[in-house]
Amino acid sequence: MILVTGATGAVGRRVVAQLAANGASVRATSRTPDAADLPDDIETLSSSAPAHALLDGCSSVLIVASALGAAQLGRLAELVAAANVARAGRLVHISTASVTDPLSPTGAHHRALEEVSAGFAGARHVLRPVPFALNTLHWWGPTVRVGRFAEAPYLDVPMVPVDERDVADVATALLLGTSEPDGPLHLTGPEGLSSREQLGLLAEALGTHLDVREIEPDEVRRRLAGAGVPAPAVESLLRSFELAAEHPVLPSDAVPRVLGRPARDYANWVADHIESFR
Ligand SMILES: NC(=O)c1ccc[n+]([C@@H]2O[C@H](COP(=O)([O-])OP(=O)(O)OC[C@H]3O[C@@H](n4cnc5c(N)ncnc54)[C@H](OP(=O)(O)O)[C@@H]3O)[C@@H](O)[C@H]2O)c1
Repeated sequence: MILVTGATGAVGRRVVAQLAANGASVRATSRTPDAADLPDDIETLSSSAPAHALLDGCSSVLIVASALGAAQLGRLAELVAAANVARAGRLVHISTASVTDPLSPTGAHHRALEEVSAGFAGARHVLRPVPFALNTLHWWGPTVRVGRFAEAPYLDVPMVPVDERDVADVATALLLGTSEPDGPLHLTGPEGLSSREQLGLLAEALGTHLDVREIEPDEVRRRLAGAGVPAPAVESLLRSFELAAEHPVLPSDAVPRVLGRPARDYANWVADHIESFR
């Protein structure tokens, strides 16, 4: 049995589907199991169920931080302890690339989470993805759909967006037992692309001109605060751009090394999501 937390997210849902396709028995978690919309043969439990009930009989577990609830550190400690009691052999922990940035508030929180999951007695794999390509749908989708324009800070700073499907594919491979040396896996896309270049690819795929405008970080703060995004999350997002401006983020070989194929590029992601921008 493999426990997948955060099973209704972009990463978790794909992991569940792929594990099931590989013949694995899967137990998934959601705050609302009845509304999770997972296949009938997937056992879906409440994410607040007792840790021992979630881990009972499990050989592997996927930890997705967002699904740990309000008291993330304590809940993760419970899950790790229960995984050890169940003698699970593998734990895959999705962390974030910002753990290596001492100035990122999100990074500090995820460093603390990584310390907790280090208490797992079996083979543990920590995935540290950079910001997902999917974020660009949330950032630019609404204005591109309605007004054929997009606004972004740090327009010309190259980033290496990772396709969230690659994050899921790496997690799946490791949960199923692909051998990989210990040590965090820095997951990126295959190339550096600025937001302006990403929007250029999007415009090309849409076959239309997009009006691209740079906005100041303070404007991003104002808008995201208005949308209810917590300040530490906003600062961490801006830090990821600032850091990339200071020290270019290079593509890593982790995705190709684990999967034996190149990482998906942003043009491929755009082609597969273009209808969501129309
Ligand atoms: N997006 C990025 O750019 C990025 C970059 C680096 C790392 N990551 C990490 O990658 C992981 C996977 O991302 P994802 O997009 O697949 O996950 P996600 O959508 O953020 O969350 C997965 C699931 O967690 C549950 N959840 C959300 N908020 C919750 C809350 N407050 N309390 C309890 N459960 C909650 C939801 O499931 P239910 O509604 O079914 O309960 C959600 O579908 C995340 O942990 C994230 O930190 C993301």
